[in-house]
Amino acid sequence: MIRVDGLGVEVDGTRILADVAVDLAESRVAVIGANGSGKSTFARTLNGLIVPSEGSVEVCGIDVAREPKRARDAVGFLFTNPDAQILMPTPAEDLALSLRAAEVPRREVADRVRAALARFGLEGHAEQPAYSLSGGQKQLLALAAVLVREPRVLVADEPTTLLDLGNARRMADLLIEGDGVGSAPEQVVVVTHDLDLAARCDVALRFDDGRLTSVGDPADVIDAYRAEYV
Ligand SMILES: Nc1ncnc2c1ncn2[C@@H]1O[C@H](COP(=O)(O)OP(=O)(O)OP(=O)(O)O)[C@@H](O)[C@H]1O
Ligand SMILES: [Mg+2]
Repeated sequence: MIRVDGLGVEVDGTRILADVAVDLAESRVAVIGANGSGKSTFARTLNGLIVPSEGSVEVCGIDVAREPKRARDAVGFLFTNPDAQILMPTPAEDLALSLRAAEVPRREVADRVRAALARFGLEGHAEQPAYSLSGGQKQLLALAAVLVREPRVLVADEPTTLLDLGNARRMADLLIEGDGVGSAPEQVVVVTHDLDLAARCDVALRFDDGRLTSVGDPADVIDAYRAEYV
């Protein structure tokens, strides 16, 4: 459950978000809108990467501004560019770091790393230098590193933008349906320009010029958005 009330964000005197209010109980949430409309800023307030100037953001009953540590544990964040997220020299080490951060007992880490690599099709790349992975493999590793921490909510900011058709499809399937292996987040919020991906969500939010201008059935919100560009 996400509750956003009177949310505003101002940076160095520039207003980026204003008057955003919405309650989201839906399991899969799409966020769409033009470049610069405030989507990423909104997404970043959900786990405390950006602190509201006004109003409040509550996720899973946690007030994000008041309890930033709990919020970061509950809300995983996947960036567009996996290079921003992969911290260790190899996939195996990167996943081990995430598991240790999630306080998984040391003796379980190796098994859990192997399981996560297999789950995301990376078992053949465990010890390969992370910089040498393909873009798709990097994004899968970044997703794996977020999901091994078993966040209750996953926020993904344009997770398919840098991927080819096959990998974009795979990433979309993982975000929307999970893979039936590991536990899936209760809620996934996906910021995207991929309107086919947005259409697979349960609800869509549209931002315009720093404001939330529609919330509803993705088919309706997307149709109205497309109609403006015809
Ligand atoms: N730190 C900052 N200082 C000043 N302006 C900022 C800052 N961060 C974001 N902005 C501005 O706020 C607006 C919204 O940015 P945001 O990144 O949220 O847009 P977006 O909807 O995610 O766009 P895109 O689709 O291009 O990713 C943009 O005009 C951006 O330049
Ligand atoms: Mg953005």
